[in-house]
Parts: sequence; structure tokens; C-alpha cells
Amino acid sequence: MGFCPQCRADGALIEERPASRSAKRSTVKADVVSISDIDGSAETRRPTGIGELDRVLGGGLVPGAVVLLGGEPGVGKSTLLLQAAGALAEMGGTVLLATAEESAEQVGIRARRLGIVHPKVLLAAERDVDAIVAAAAEHRPDLLVVDSIQTVAVTEVGGAAGGVAQVRESAARLIHFAKESGVPVVLVGHITKDGGIAGPKLLEHVVDVVLYLEGDVERGLRMVRGLKNRFGATHQVGLFEMRDVGMTEVPDPSEWMLARWRGGVAGSVVFPAVDGRRPLLVEVQALIAEATTPQPRRSVQGIEAARVHQLLAVLERHAGLRFAGKDVYVGVVGGIRLREPGADLPVALAIVSSLLDKPTGPLAAWGEVGLTGEIRSVAHHDRRAGEVSRLGIEKVVAPGGNGEDRIERALLRAGLLPE
Ligand code: TYD
Ligand code: MG
Repeated sequence: MGFCPQCRADGALIEERPASRSAKRSTVKADVVSISDIDGSAETRRPTGIGELDRVLGGGLVPGAVVLLGGEPGVGKSTLLLQAAGALAEMGGTVLLATAEESAEQVGIRARRLGIVHPKVLLAAERDVDAIVAAAAEHRPDLLVVDSIQTVAVTEVGGAAGGVAQVRESAARLIHFAKESGVPVVLVGHITKDGGIAGPKLLEHVVDVVLYLEGDVERGLRMVRGLKNRFGATHQVGLFEMRDVGMTEVPDPSEWMLARWRGGVAGSVVFPAVDGRRPLLVEVQALIAEATTPQPRRSVQGIEAARVHQLLAVLERHAGLRFAGKDVYVGVVGGIRLREPGADLPVALAIVSSLLDKPTGPLAAWGEVGLTGEIRSVAHHDRRAGEVSRLGIEKVVAPGGNGEDRIERALLRAGLLPE
């Protein structure tokens, strides 16, 4: 057919030949060892020298590990890896950057601007996977970066670079090289906003570590999130800010957020998110305005739109508020995406604060809002409370220990009662 009948992607079908029936069965027996005889004590991790990245990697790069770094174009993958290469070189390591997207000159200019002009950072502008592997085998770097897996290709495999067959075979050869040589390899993978593009998703199960770099491409925080790690814990996040000097680490994200918080305006509430084990104060904003079109707008950024629609319905039904004929905008500052149900309450309070044009003052809130207007407690209550008080926010609305609360009562406690 030439296209996938389900997702309509071109060139997504790969021909696979069944194993021939006459083929001889292997008579080789697998080696079996007792788990107690395996010496796991010699695990050597090499820090990249970028703390926020090492945090997500679980301490650093493990020999022979293959890491997939995914993210939207422009989010900062190449910049972060160039900086990691510089930091590794500063510590005496050699890094080979195989760049198939940019010329060596382009990378060189960027490196110069970022102050990374170390002789141990090697560049190869190359699209051929075998040529990259051969160069890596010769130079034996302490890290090989391939930027990106969608733009390199293997000559014997048909189809354009970036197609399923090419991505799969290119990755297989690079993984084989990593395992055989012990050189850690980072593969860069582009994903689009809707998570599309066959590439990275299809590699998640064949690599050892999957990291995603996300955040607002235009401004704000960038988060490196660990989705899978065969050598450490996942659900760690590393935080950066993209500046003119490259990706800058943000070791105290809550302070970073609050420093940018104007407070005191209607429609702004603080949510102490807990990402991994790390609390992070984020600002949730809402703007409710008279609709100028017959069909009012509902614009949501950084949280699931369906949750906002549900909150509007709950507020209409249980707090007697009206959103008919109103445009509703809800957003999370800093390009952060919230996935926790605990964000319901701060979103609801921000919406009501804007609707009534009543500032709440410095206020933090968390809790999951149910369809009957009940507020359920969410995990990490103490951690959230601790972070909020560490940064000096005294007013908190959250369900208590017994978890029983109502949206009407929460509005009252936030000083947000409709006249
Ligand atoms: P890049 O690392 O090329 O993104 P990716 O490899 O994920 O596609 O960086 C993307 C953007 O970052 C680029 O559009 C400009 C910006 N940028 C800065 O703001 N400051 C910097 O120092 C650098 C190097 C890039
Ligand atoms: Mg890039």
C-alpha cells in the first residue's frame, strides 16, 4: 500500500520475511551463571559534569549505555549535549559529536559562543551510521553523541532517513557498537508537539535510558525527564533555563518561579507540584473575559483541557458561578506541563479569582476536585506544605489529613466568595 492504513504515515510499513522453514536449528546452548557469581560492585558511572543532567541519569553515564534524548525541535537538545561534551572534556574525557543536521562550522560557531573550545570535543558532520561507528571505533571517545537518529542512515537499508526501517537499523548498529565497545552513546530524537514521528517512540524499548527534554520552546524552563532508566530511578527531573549562554541549570526551581511571580493580581494561584521527588512551585493563571464571539473560547495550556472543562462544570453546579458567554483562558507559567490531579484546586481558584476579579494574595493550593464538588487529598501533602512554607507563602488551601473537603469551603477559605 505504501502507507500505514491506521496512522496514514508514508513509508511506515516494513517488509519482514518469515524465517525459512528449512533453516537449521541452532545447537548452541546458552551460558547459565548464578546471579551471586556476577560482580556488580564495579559499576562505574561517569558524571557528565552537568548536575541537572546527572541527576536524571542517576549519577552519570554507565559504560555501554544507550541514552535516547527526545524533544521538540528547538527545545535545546543539541545545545545541552554540546555543553555536556564541553564539561566532560574539561574533566579529561573525549567526546565525539556526530552531527547529521548541522555542519561542523555551525556547531563550531555555537561552541565558540558558549565557550566550549576544547580539543577533546571531536566533531564529525556525517550521515552514514557505519562511518560514524568506524570513526568512534578509531577515536574511542568516552561518549558518542548522534544528532539526530532521524537524520542518519544505513546504506543497505532502503527508504529515507527518518523512516521506520532506517531509524530501527541505525539505532541497532549504534547500540551494538555501544555494547561491544563500552562507549556510552546518546541518540537525539525529534518528536513533534503531538508526540508524533515514528522515530523516538519506537526506540524506547531498545535503549537503556529514555530522557525527554520539554518546555516552552520560546521561553521559560526546560525540564529533562527520565522516562526509563535501566541503571537508576526514573521520575527524576532536571531543570534548565535557556539563556544566551546556553542551558543554565536551575538548582532551586521554586525560587526561580517565585522570583518571576508578580502575585497580588486576580487569576494567579501557586501550585506546589511534585515531580519525581522534587517539589516545584508553579504559577497557575486564569483569565475569564466577556466572549466576543457567539462561541466562547476555551484556551488551555500546560494542563489537560478536559480537566478545565470539568472544573468549569463543577464550579457552575456547586458554587453557582456562570461561565456562559465567557472566554476562559488557563495556563501554567514557564511552559511547564502539569500531569497531577492535584492541580485541579489551584486551577479552580485561579478561574474564580479572575471571574470575580478578586486577587487572592500569595496563595498556594492543591487537591483533586471530584464531579460532586468534593476535594480529595493528593500524595505528598507534607512535601508540598514544606516547600510552600520554605518560600514564605503562608496562605494555603488544601484538603486536610482526612481528605474531606468541598469546593465551596475551599472558595471561602481562599476569600473567593461570590457576592
Ligand atoms: P537547539 O539546541 O538547537 O535545539 P534542538 O537541538 O533541540 O533542536 O537550540 C534551540 C534554540 O535554543 C535555538 O533556536 C536558539 C536557542 N539558544 C539560546 O537561546 N541560547 C543559546 O545559547 C543557544 C546555543 C541556543
Ligand atoms: Mg538539534
